[in-house]
Amino acid sequence: EKGGFEHFMMKEMYEEPKVIRDTFNPRVKNGELVLDNINITKEDIEKLQKIHIVACGTAYHAGVVGKYIIEKLCRISVEVDVASEFRYRDPLITDKELTIIISQSGETLDTLFALREAKKKGSRIVSIVNVVGSSIARSSDDVLYTWAGPEIAVASTKAYNTQLTALYLIALDFGLKKGTISKQEADEILSSLREIPSGIEAILEDKESIQKFAHRHYNAKSIFFIGRSLDYALSMEGSLKLKEISYIHSEAYAGGELKHGTIALIEKGTLVVCPMTQDALFDKMVSNIREVKARGAVVLAITQNRHKEELEKTTDLVLTIPDVDSLVSPVLAVTPLQLFAYYMALEKGCDVDKPRNLAKSVTVE
Ligand code: M6R
Repeated sequence: EKGGFEHFMMKEMYEEPKVIRDTFNPRVKNGELVLDNINITKEDIEKLQKIHIVACGTAYHAGVVGKYIIEKLCRISVEVDVASEFRYRDPLITDKELTIIISQSGETLDTLFALREAKKKGSRIVSIVNVVGSSIARSSDDVLYTWAGPEIAVASTKAYNTQLTALYLIALDFGLKKGTISKQEADEILSSLREIPSGIEAILEDKESIQKFAHRHYNAKSIFFIGRSLDYALSMEGSLKLKEISYIHSEAYAGGELKHGTIALIEKGTLVVCPMTQDALFDKMVSNIREVKARGAVVLAITQNRHKEELEKTTDLVLTIPDVDSLVSPVLAVTPLQLFAYYMALEKGCDVDKPRNLAKSVTVE
């Protein structure tokens, strides 16, 4: 049932190209977006004053990416919350606002109750769910299914890539309806998204350098992930994946926040992982790398091929991803982070598929 792989987690990472295609292809017909089960009209979008995104864990991290892209493409303000906070804080929400709920299982209790809270306050609910007919899917006004198939490993991998794919599709649909992006801009983003699956295939082919790096560093006590903008959102997911399955303490930080405190923790040998896929912020991240290197950090950078040479001078290892556009890079750049967590856990002898203290679906508080 593991299809020849040692763990479900690896099998599920290998499924990423296929499930992204399954989530993407049926929704783009002859160049037009067809979001089945989402019946939001141009008029609905024009009336929208705000969007909330609510989820837990990995789905929440997908939501953080969603905030950046929806705000960029639709010029609507987006608030992202973890469900357990949202449901208890008497959130300010009106019937002119939309709530996007993200959940792989569709059964996460906090997320379901957050949905009910938003609904009670009059918000329309769009959900991005993987399990057909799940409680969250059934309680929503509109559903965009991710076609990731069953995810068995506790650590979520392929579901995240498909949640992001769904969020890009929604952002593009809303942006086109609202007129904040042109058809040509949308087409360019769609063609960048179309390149992602083969990009992931290339990353999976070339995973040995990650494995070797993990072999050298699995004794790390604490690891920092730093990034800016979409890479910050990605860092959060990379950090969660690592701590969840390898039990190594780790934190994700916005590059620009380091000097406001956390840099005090960087000492000789501290491992710092830097996703650097945002061209507009590349130089800012190079400065961050200099700051941590000056304090003795070991730096692993993850970037597009086009930046490899430049970064080799300032870092200890550069992992490259294919030359994809900055806006869609998280869908692709998460895979090396998942592989990194996987190999660190494997080196440490951890139970990769069933990490301690965790359940696949959290249906209790
Ligand atoms: O089924 P859901 O997407 O609602 O689950 C949310 C989280 O429990 C889940 O993503 C969790 O954080 C994963 N174990 C992370 O790998």
